[in-house]
Amino acid sequence: MDWNEVALHAKQWMLEAGGLLRDSLETSLTIETKSNASDLVTNMDRHIEQFLIEKILERYPLHRILGEEGYGNEEGSLQGTLWLIDPIDGTMNFVHQKRNFVISIGIYHNGQGKIGLVYDPVHDEMYSAVQGQGAYCNDTEIPKLKAGIVEESVIGINATWLTRNRMLDYERMGELVRRSRGSRSYGCAALEMVYVATGRLDGYITPRLSPWDFGGGAVILSEVGGIVTNFNGVALSPIEKGPILAARPGVYEELLTYVK
Ligand code: IPD
Ligand code: CA
Ligand code: CA
Ligand code: CA
Repeated sequence: MDWNEVALHAKQWMLEAGGLLRDSLETSLTIETKSNASDLVTNMDRHIEQFLIEKILERYPLHRILGEEGYGNEEGSLQGTLWLIDPIDGTMNFVHQKRNFVISIGIYHNGQGKIGLVYDPVHDEMYSAVQGQGAYCNDTEIPKLKAGIVEESVIGINATWLTRNRMLDYERMGELVRRSRGSRSYGCAALEMVYVATGRLDGYITPRLSPWDFGGGAVILSEVGGIVTNFNGVALSPIEKGPILAARPGVYEELLTYVK
């Protein structure tokens, strides 16, 4: 498979889809809730996922697709080529802020990350990586990450995990945030992962993501020397949900001691 060619096609489709999202900001959206009152989905989440899947299957009929809104054909196998699609990552931002949302695509072959693409249509920034070829923001190569320490780090973490909860030791998280330079939360996992790749964040901690959330960002981050695993330091599986720790070297090892 020529992964550069696949990436080129996927980028074209994402740019087109991003245009549809930008246009939709001027229209009225249909907003529904899913698992709870703050779990939102819009007509555009569904439309963009269907749009992308149609393009992919037209050109690559044997590829499998796992999309958040359920229009894919994936049944839980690592074999062959698997596309992980989040048509809008950061739906709440899309609805409330009209910014800080992205389209995310990760392409895996026999379980290995081959392509990562994260497109921010409001800023017209396409983050991309093909395995072994470095990572880019539009046409500019993203420099490799240098090692860091927590005291000089900005950590991406949602404030929820600094309050009493069942997923993380919130007192330890509070300690970590106090030790760091500060914390930020963007409400868009794929964006937070590419922000670690570009050094805007030094680490990102979140106790529950799905493959479509991290699939694209993980490939991009790995290409610049970032580390991304679950809370036990084990590599992520592209077909399993779970906790995510992503960081530059040095900071990663320190953060792991807080979440383990
Ligand atoms: C969500 C966002 C959010 C993360 C949630 C995701 P969605 O994705 O990435 O930042 O904390 O776990 O589900 O639903 O907006 O695609
Ligand atoms: Ca969602
Ligand atoms: Ca998502
Ligand atoms: Ca989504």
